[in-house]
Amino acid sequence: MSNRKDDHISLALNQKFINNDFDHVRFVPESLCYTDCSSVDISVNFFDRKLLSPIYINAMSGGSLKSLEVNKKLAKLSKACGFPIATGSISAAIKNEKWKNSFSIVREINRDGLIFANIGITKNFNNVLKAIDILKADAIQIHLNAAQEIIMPEGDRFFSFSKEKIKEITSKIKIPVIVKEVGFGMSKESVSMLYDLGVRNIDISGKGGTNFIKIENHRRETRLESFENHGFSTVESLLDLKNINKKQLNIFASGGIRDAYDIVKALALGAKLVGMSGYFLKLVEENSLEEAIKKAKNLIEDVKNIMAVLNAKSIEELKSKKLIFNQKLLNFINQRKNSH
Ligand SMILES: Cc1cc2nc3c(=O)[nH]c(=O)nc-3n(C[C@H](O)[C@H](O)[C@H](O)COP(=O)(O)O)c2cc1C
Repeated sequence: MSNRKDDHISLALNQKFINNDFDHVRFVPESLCYTDCSSVDISVNFFDRKLLSPIYINAMSGGSLKSLEVNKKLAKLSKACGFPIATGSISAAIKNEKWKNSFSIVREINRDGLIFANIGITKNFNNVLKAIDILKADAIQIHLNAAQEIIMPEGDRFFSFSKEKIKEITSKIKIPVIVKEVGFGMSKESVSMLYDLGVRNIDISGKGGTNFIKIENHRRETRLESFENHGFSTVESLLDLKNINKKQLNIFASGGIRDAYDIVKALALGAKLVGMSGYFLKLVEENSLEEAIKKAKNLIEDVKNIMAVLNAKSIEELKSKKLIFNQKLLNFINQRKNSH
């Protein structure tokens, strides 16, 4: 399992986020800018906290020596920038105690931070409790990754208990539960099903960035390349959920977020928080920690500055700004208009 995590890290570092659906979304420009950059407030009240920005470091690391080092850097970055942070799946530490520290180090470094534990839907309820305990987690992410598992040579093949498991977790766990994808997006049908099972926080983690079918294809003998196109992009998922109208439902956007402009677009499309994995992995692996922190702080400033150009002083105001979509996305919107 620790080798698998190292494979994932090195293969993810080699994936390039070049074009994705965020390029097909534009704002109607407001040439007469009447908003000072310093007047833009992107703080978010969430899980009983006031976050400085809606940006969080999404699940990746832990379960090997290499990933211990990555988690140390990510934890320092999250502390310096006030970002919530999720670790990678804690199942490695549950299988082998020696990897516990590669996860708990995040709490040791960022004592007061908002920290999410992470575990797969196929793991049993006791393991969910262990994952929360190892990190003293503020919230738990449950990842759904059947599309990845079936390509992974050693992946899970039993999924029939998923609904019961989600129900058990949402009814018994006292901290917030976030159900997340791992880069294949979510439809409104999936989100409605999860909502009915008690889930109120959903990370749609869509296509457009790290592609785990591609990563697992590199780890198996016969590749299933056409399947790499499976799923909804992050933009498509957000569009699909635009009018879902469910009380107390928080949608987090992640998957292929490349820069501040993508963050602004994801927020305008309805995201409460915006997560980045591949971006932060590259940031801490390709820069000194000081440089990485500086660039992450610039990212926050860039979000505010772009919002000023759009005359949006808050995320709420940003959500009312007009957007233009290209033909490909219009086609998607039309086909999904009448689906339930
Ligand atoms: C190296 C690496 C390891 C990951 N491990 C996990 C994991 O253990 N659990 C999980 O839910 N998602 C995991 N992910 C998926 C991310 O949380 C995210 O959903 C996905 O990478 C899409 O975001 P991105 O395009 O910003 O990378 C991992 C991603 C990367 C890059």
